[in-house]
Amino acid sequence: MIHVQGLEKSFGDRPILLGVDLLCRTGETTVILGGSGAGKSVLMKHMVGLLTGDKGSVEVDGQQVGELDAAGLRALRDRVGMVFQQSALFDSMTVFENVAFPVTQAAREKLSPSELAERVHESLALFDLHDVDDLTPAELSGGMRKRVALARAIIRRPGIVLYDELTTGLDPVTTRQVDSMIQTARQKLGVTSVVISHDIGSAFRVADQIAFLHEGRILAHGRPEEMRRSEQPELKEFLSSWEPA
Ligand SMILES: Nc1ncnc2c1ncn2[C@@H]1O[C@H](COP(=O)(O)OP(=O)(O)OP(=O)(O)O)[C@@H](O)[C@H]1O
Ligand SMILES: [Mg+2]
Repeated sequence: MIHVQGLEKSFGDRPILLGVDLLCRTGETTVILGGSGAGKSVLMKHMVGLLTGDKGSVEVDGQQVGELDAAGLRALRDRVGMVFQQSALFDSMTVFENVAFPVTQAAREKLSPSELAERVHESLALFDLHDVDDLTPAELSGGMRKRVALARAIIRRPGIVLYDELTTGLDPVTTRQVDSMIQTARQKLGVTSVVISHDIGSAFRVADQIAFLHEGRILAHGRPEEMRRSEQPELKEFLSSWEPA
């Protein structure tokens, strides 16, 4: 569970978050919707301690993220997988090496080569990737690259996965494929997911809960069908830019 309460954050004298309250329930997918520059990425970074709030609190699995020391933050990041748009694959490494990377980096996890291979292949198979070990990122399609990034993010079986703009720049068909992979991660691994998306269609497909961030606050929060019917003026305007198919 992720519980954000009264979170405030300014950069210099520019307030970005003005008191964000948000509850992301265990095993559910919560989508954060909001315009460009609303502070969605800033909010997400507080969930893994990449940013610290000026006021309020962020609790992840019962721990106050703002109060964790370096070791506590490392332990937290072990349990939280992140797939950010910029979290590109390493071009010089093969798919296998990319997916194995979080495990080979974690000194505490000593796996034999065959155990490691099993873990990598299990993770890749979860996202319908087979026989891709020796390919390099340049040899993959955009959608495949995202799926490899997903396989890498979940290889250590995190309880929580954060996705920031995973589908930006993908065509509609590939976007749908990646959406269904997010649902796969939720169903097969039972992960709690927080998804930032610009794509309203995508948001409605993957969300159990949608939270609308506007001018520093969550103005509306609920199940997709509740959000679609919402009379909240800013949300209505935001959603009016998109018509369901
Ligand atoms: N480290 C930082 N220092 C100063 N300003 C920052 C920093 N990070 C973010 N900002 C500012 O905070 C605001 C919110 O940024 P954020 O990246 O969270 O927006 P966003 O909702 O994710 O937008 P987008 O949909 O375009 O990704 C922006 O105006 C940005 O310039
Ligand atoms: Mg962003």
